Amino acid sequence: MRITGTGHASMRIDTGAGSILCDPWVNPAYFASWFPFPDNSQLDWETLGDVDYLYVSHLHRDHFDAAHLKRFISKKATVLLPEYPTSQLEDELRELGFTSFFKTKSNEVHELDGGLKIMIQALISPTDGPIGDSSLWVEHDGVRVLNQNDARPTDLSTFAELGHVHAHMLQFSGAIWYPMVYELPTSAKTAFGKQKRDRQFDRTWRYIDDLKADHVFPIAGPPCFLDDELWQFNDIFGDEGNIFPDQSVFMAEYAKVGGTNGVVLLPGSVSELTTESIETTHPTDVDEFFANKKAHLEEMRERKAPIIAAEKASWRHPEIDVLGELKKRIEPLLEESIYLAKGVGGPVRFDLVSYDGDAIESIVVDFPGKQVRPYADEKVRYRFRTQRELVEHLIFIDEGDWVNSLFLSCRFSAARIGQYNEFVYAFFKCLSEERLQYAEGWYDEHEKAVEAEDTHFGEWTVQRRCPHLKADLSRFGIVEGNVLTCQLHGWKFDLPSGRCLTSVGHKIRAEKTGS
Ligand code: FES
Repeated sequence: MRITGTGHASMRIDTGAGSILCDPWVNPAYFASWFPFPDNSQLDWETLGDVDYLYVSHLHRDHFDAAHLKRFISKKATVLLPEYPTSQLEDELRELGFTSFFKTKSNEVHELDGGLKIMIQALISPTDGPIGDSSLWVEHDGVRVLNQNDARPTDLSTFAELGHVHAHMLQFSGAIWYPMVYELPTSAKTAFGKQKRDRQFDRTWRYIDDLKADHVFPIAGPPCFLDDELWQFNDIFGDEGNIFPDQSVFMAEYAKVGGTNGVVLLPGSVSELTTESIETTHPTDVDEFFANKKAHLEEMRERKAPIIAAEKASWRHPEIDVLGELKKRIEPLLEESIYLAKGVGGPVRFDLVSYDGDAIESIVVDFPGKQVRPYADEKVRYRFRTQRELVEHLIFIDEGDWVNSLFLSCRFSAARIGQYNEFVYAFFKCLSEERLQYAEGWYDEHEKAVEAEDTHFGEWTVQRRCPHLKADLSRFGIVEGNVLTCQLHGWKFDLPSGRCLTSVGHKIRAEKTGS
């Protein structure tokens, strides 16, 4: 089996029974904020795109690059489709010209022509990607690989049961706006960022340990930020609170925990993989490349500046009445929302900064009042501050998922009272009838699922499944003092009161029963 690195989360897998191209991403994503690093735009995409199968793991724009898919990927390719609750991924691929779809069943092995076996595990909670994220398992000629991508299954046992895995590709770096966009003192931001960075690595080690593959490939990030406004997010300033460590940092950290089987793929690197061995060749020296990261980024910044400028020029739509349009789009959804609206539980304010930076229009999405209206000098749960043109553009393109556009762009700042509230982001990724109904239904079922099973930590008897996304706490839970931490996403719970210390709601059932 041959694995060719094609940048970020993308790779091409060649086997004797056909080739699979995964998640090709080249054009900037999220309001021209994220670019793939190292740059992959100069690869021979005509050849790489001439494949038998295409796998797009999910709709996040650093995995689903519509312009690139349209231009470079063979429409003869059969799409290996994850089993998602909505048809959006299939619909968008059909619009780009793909006509052949192989609809997989989640967690089922499918045998394709020539004995190529695949399995796609689809994760479908409202907090998984843009309602849906997935991993691809491939087997041919006894060689098995798991492209876990940035999916976060509770564990990897479904894959491990299919036999020893030879190559495991997974995310290790950040892909979120926390804590950088928060209006916090620098020292607090650094401390939160450091915690987050450590947690990302801990989670990665856990997954690696779960699968015990022969070789581990750090993939799916980090992106680079080439706009001057976002340049500081690149991990080139020695900031221990930066959540975007790169592959060379991964290798150094992995070595500290005893990891010796890491393989870095640059765009154009090729790994020849057998059940016994791996041989990897690179287009340039990997260590030297990362040692000169800043210079590579500066060169890219200059080269990509016209692309950013062109994108920015397309965002302004002064004819749009933002308040009126938001009322029209969001109020019917607020009216229908039970779980998400209750979960947010208070008003959320958007401060929209005018083109010249002089004026601010404050708009409130009032979840309890089911209204979108001008800000009325009240206490709000969250406040977001962003450029007016970004919201104009979201309205203009009828964006149904603001996480997959505005929030991931990091082109905003935020403040909040109290804990993180996952429902705020879940709501703003569900700005369409279909998505909102799905999320509401999911929370309904989730809430009603009685967690009958227990697990034990010393003298504590605790519900076995994490109140967040049902991770098995007998594997992911650790207790220090009276606080239980679920290591899958790092959520903390106070055992005596059952209170979730990380997010609003999500109480845990815990009882002191003696050791
Ligand atoms: S499942 Fe997310 S913190 Fe437990």
